[in-house]
Amino acid sequence: MAAEHLVWRELTAEEKHILEVGHDDSNRNMKDQICFEKQRMIIPRTYLKFMDDMYNFPVKKDDIWIVTYPKCGTTWMQETVSMLINNVDQEYGKLPQIFRSPFLDIDTLMDGNEKGEGLQVPEDTPDFMKKMMEEFSKGVIPFARKMSGRRVLKSHMSFDFLPPNLEDKCKVVYVARQPKDCIVSFYHHSINMPLHGYQQSLSTFAEEMMKGVVLFGDYWKHLESGWKLRNHPNVKFIWFEDMKKDSKKVIEELSVFLEHPLSEEKVDQLVHHVSFDVMKLNKTANPSAMMKLPEEKNFMRKGQVGDWKNYFSGPELEKIDNWIEENKKRTGIQLPE
Ligand code: A3P
Repeated sequence: MAAEHLVWRELTAEEKHILEVGHDDSNRNMKDQICFEKQRMIIPRTYLKFMDDMYNFPVKKDDIWIVTYPKCGTTWMQETVSMLINNVDQEYGKLPQIFRSPFLDIDTLMDGNEKGEGLQVPEDTPDFMKKMMEEFSKGVIPFARKMSGRRVLKSHMSFDFLPPNLEDKCKVVYVARQPKDCIVSFYHHSINMPLHGYQQSLSTFAEEMMKGVVLFGDYWKHLESGWKLRNHPNVKFIWFEDMKKDSKKVIEELSVFLEHPLSEEKVDQLVHHVSFDVMKLNKTANPSAMMKLPEEKNFMRKGQVGDWKNYFSGPELEKIDNWIEENKKRTGIQLPE
């Protein structure tokens, strides 16, 4: 089945310019992007190779899809869900998260070779894992199709791009984060992570977020796609801020939602396992451990609510707040306090 509603166009001269000057040459995909206007999705042209495979991905009833706009707590949720449905089994947790919960869009961002180079496989890696790595490097979508057991799949694409009526076919967890912290986190990700190669200031990045000219496109369009489904019985819509406020409560709710009961003791173990400091040191859960990253570029940066206060003030803050107010009014989305 072709995804006929997914109509793309070339970027305008202004959009092209933003991406061209915004990035160094470390990943040509960041400069060569296209726009799906209706969805306001900006994505490397390479997505066209994967679009149909993604749309037609064979969904299983017991799948769990984690769908998010970037930097809204995806990795945290992947760790939570993948360990929850495996009874917080520490042996299972030794498997790198990328295998426990594959990122379906990753081949769009980097081709197989780059993916292999970007991930360090330690010498003592067991053979079965080297084999997994080999399969993974050949293509993440085929890798995920072949996964056995209950699958936890991650995507940053909004719902139009995912298998149609996904929410009727399996469980979906949508994680959202208030936009100012998302901007700050996304900016740091874009300058720190290999193969993003962003080279502008936070102020410029914030402007680009407000225009929706960043990787994975418009924050609000994406959020709206999840917000609309928030009352669907198979969808769990979760704010990053609520996970921070009371991760135990969120884990208990997830356990009910995923129909995977956990003892109180296991819930407490999971709360500990996914707490920021513990997860930061966990080499199989913190993506930094698999990349050649110095401490100052750690993927697990701060994990806080309200970090934006350290960056935005004055007229810049006013402009961002106006953008948020307009979009809240337009969409009816209620952000967390
Ligand atoms: P910061 O950059 O604000 O620190 P994603 O996984 O969607 O890319 O989101 C990454 C953000 O979630 C980063 O935010 C990261 O530090 C934060 N994060 C990841 N794991 C976390 C955890 N266990 N607790 C709190 N925040 C976490």
